Amino acid sequence: MAPPTNGGDGLFLLLFLLCLSTPRGSSSNSITASLSALQSSSSSGVIRLNDTLLRRIHSLPSPRPFHLVVFFDAKKLHSRSELALPTLKSEFSLVSSSFLANNPDNKSRSLLFFFDVEVEESQATFALFDVNTLPHIRLVPSAAADLKSDSIKLDAAHFSSLVDAMGELIESETGISVGPINRPPVVSRTQMILVMVGAVIWAPYAVRKLASGKSMVHEKSTWMAGAVFVYFFSVSGTMFNIIRKAPMFIVDRRDGETVMLFYQGAGVQLGAEGFIVGFLYTVVGLLLAFVCHVLVRVRDTKWQRISMILALLLSWWAVRQLIYLNNWKTGYRSHAYWWRSASH
Ligand SMILES: *[C@@H]1O[C@H](CO)[C@@H](O)[C@H](O)[C@H]1NC(C)=O
Repeated sequence: MAPPTNGGDGLFLLLFLLCLSTPRGSSSNSITASLSALQSSSSSGVIRLNDTLLRRIHSLPSPRPFHLVVFFDAKKLHSRSELALPTLKSEFSLVSSSFLANNPDNKSRSLLFFFDVEVEESQATFALFDVNTLPHIRLVPSAAADLKSDSIKLDAAHFSSLVDAMGELIESETGISVGPINRPPVVSRTQMILVMVGAVIWAPYAVRKLASGKSMVHEKSTWMAGAVFVYFFSVSGTMFNIIRKAPMFIVDRRDGETVMLFYQGAGVQLGAEGFIVGFLYTVVGLLLAFVCHVLVRVRDTKWQRISMILALLLSWWAVRQLIYLNNWKTGYRSHAYWWRSASH
């Protein structure tokens, strides 16, 4: 190499050569390239993480050229319905495949990688992130130096779905937008066509029936039953249970036999629990309707009074059950109902 003609140029050349020969740049490129290859070989874009791969990624100096999202999985816990691991995993894959679909070019794809890691294969990874309970999803921003303390655990409790929670977390921490989620349709095309054919065949019959004035729609009882159903449906939190896919009940883990219908702790509700609460509310609602619409027309004052007192007592009992249940679940005390134990 010819001696530099002046000091400034020589320094620049030296820095340039140092940059070229530093192992950092090249190894980060090669890891990104192999992650990209793994990403495109997986149908949903989720890469199986293992201890070796994590060590390679972790060896890169931060900031790394990409962010990671890791789903911690345990095959042997898939049968535990209260953890809902299979559902969460498929939602996770859905976010990953949507991210790929919304980012067709390789450059933006390689800014964010989705991983799943199995506890039986990769115990060191679980230990590094200090993951002891499942479900557990973590975002590792590119700048994170320490995997555990600089990464963020996804908290899905305040979101109606894991997909929303992940989208929000990724966007707020990395600035990358996952984009619209491409959910597979709930009803297939064939089912849709069958339903439409059925509707077309049934329509003339339904119209004739409606015109005759003697259909179910003209029955008062249909509407009453419908109203009670809608009321029951809402007060028992059925929508919550459907969205969260809450199990009807859970079996006690310690003896594997005791069936638990109620779950202690706010924010979690089992299906049966919702229905029992919904039933109590409906009893009160129906009694109120009975008092307002039927009892007021009873001529015999004695029967009217007895029924009124019974209705009041039954409603009071039902509401008391609800208040006790709420207190047991959340510790919240409603003073109007708690005079018995006010000394506590
Ligand atoms: C870890 O994952 C990498 C990439 O998928 C793979 O090449 C390697 O064989 C895996 N190692 C082990 C021990 O499973």
